Amino acid sequence: MPENSYEKTLSSLGVNDSIGVSWLFVELRRQFTSELADAVKKNEWARVRDRWMRSGNPIVEQLEKNWVKPTPPELQEYVLRQLQGFRAFVGIRLQAGYPLEHAEGRGPNWIENEFLKLQTAFDNELAGCLNEQDLGVTKIDWMGRKSGVLGLITETWLKPSPSDLKPVVGQELNKLRKHVESQLELRIAAAEAGAEEEDHVDLSLPGVVRALGSRHLIRQVFQEIEDIFFSIGFSVVEGPEIETPYYNFEALNIPEFHPVRDDMDTFYMELPKGTPGQLLLRTHTSPMQIRTMEKQKPPVRVIVPGRVYRRDNPDATHSFAFHQVEGLAVDSDITFCDFTGTIEYFVKQFFGPSVKTRFRPSYFPFTEPSVEFDVSCVFCGGSGTTASGTCGKCKGAGWIELFGAGMVDPAVYGFVGYDPKKVSGFAFGIGIDRLAMLKYGIDDIQAFFQNDVRFLKQFP
Ligand code: PHE
Repeated sequence: MPENSYEKTLSSLGVNDSIGVSWLFVELRRQFTSELADAVKKNEWARVRDRWMRSGNPIVEQLEKNWVKPTPPELQEYVLRQLQGFRAFVGIRLQAGYPLEHAEGRGPNWIENEFLKLQTAFDNELAGCLNEQDLGVTKIDWMGRKSGVLGLITETWLKPSPSDLKPVVGQELNKLRKHVESQLELRIAAAEAGAEEEDHVDLSLPGVVRALGSRHLIRQVFQEIEDIFFSIGFSVVEGPEIETPYYNFEALNIPEFHPVRDDMDTFYMELPKGTPGQLLLRTHTSPMQIRTMEKQKPPVRVIVPGRVYRRDNPDATHSFAFHQVEGLAVDSDITFCDFTGTIEYFVKQFFGPSVKTRFRPSYFPFTEPSVEFDVSCVFCGGSGTTASGTCGKCKGAGWIELFGAGMVDPAVYGFVGYDPKKVSGFAFGIGIDRLAMLKYGIDDIQAFFQNDVRFLKQFP
């Protein structure tokens, strides 16, 4: 800090921000305080007063001229406020350091009045405190042992005061000290409480709510179906989505040039040159019939939820990927009646007791006989008409085609080492997307794959 910094402008002092400015003022206070303390001892109070506040070109005026005026507007206001604070600081100390001998003959009233002015000055300074840091500075200003105002008054007023005035000065000084102490204590306590409040973690505040996802509707339907079959003794198995043609076709009694393969045209993997065989995305969950029977002896009761693929062009009812639940029950004495009873039980559990079922002859290479299961239309109650005319969902038929099924073709048992003379069973393949669309009134299968949150949110 250069000597006589008040004679130079802030920019020539290299100061261009508020931190630099506050440091300059701290230094000024220090200078002034030590000068005043010296002067009081040497009875030179008036010289200090003149140099800082009064004579032709006092320091506070130089500060105004050199520090405030030429400073750019963004900093100027800050410097001005600091200067005002500094003026008050100097004023109070000059007043406090005023040698009491000058007061002689003015009596107790004058003294009381002087103390009242000091108290007001303190109250003003306190009112200007914005935070704990300001309060700390004010505390040192007033109560600091070396240069605090109270100490200054003790030295300059109380100690040298004539005996007739001493009691008044003592009494007034005590009053002022108590006032300063108690007010500071109050404000500091309040500031600390406030700071604590800010740090405090309010456990009653609701936290940031992170939206929880929910299961995809397809998953939910899988779960519903699993629960129903689980309750009648089926277990759940899952299989690979990438299959060999053997499991997807051959072992299901679909030889290579069987025309049914056209219906199940699919995606074949591009394998490194020289790899023997082929791999494909399974076109149905039926390969798991074979894999399950290969692994275990009868009785078999499984369902297989999973994703399957076909080379379909996407539209409202077709997608290159969709979902099925395969069912397989094989035992020594399973009849067609068990089969229809099981299906009927499932459909009523899933859609409700009023829904009716029917089956029609159909064809699958791996079941014999094969059927197609229909349910009475859940939208028109099977009547084929609604209030607004022909039911759009079943197109007036009153029935909706739900899934393919049948008794396991004996040829299939040959592929897994079961004796077709000793075992019988049934299998079915439910199209889940279609089922979900029916049950929840969704008219576009693509909605399941687009993952639009507005859609998904409707099925929490
Ligand atoms: N896998 C057949 C399909 O995807 C459905 C089916 C499964 C048919 C089981 C009969 C038995 O179309």
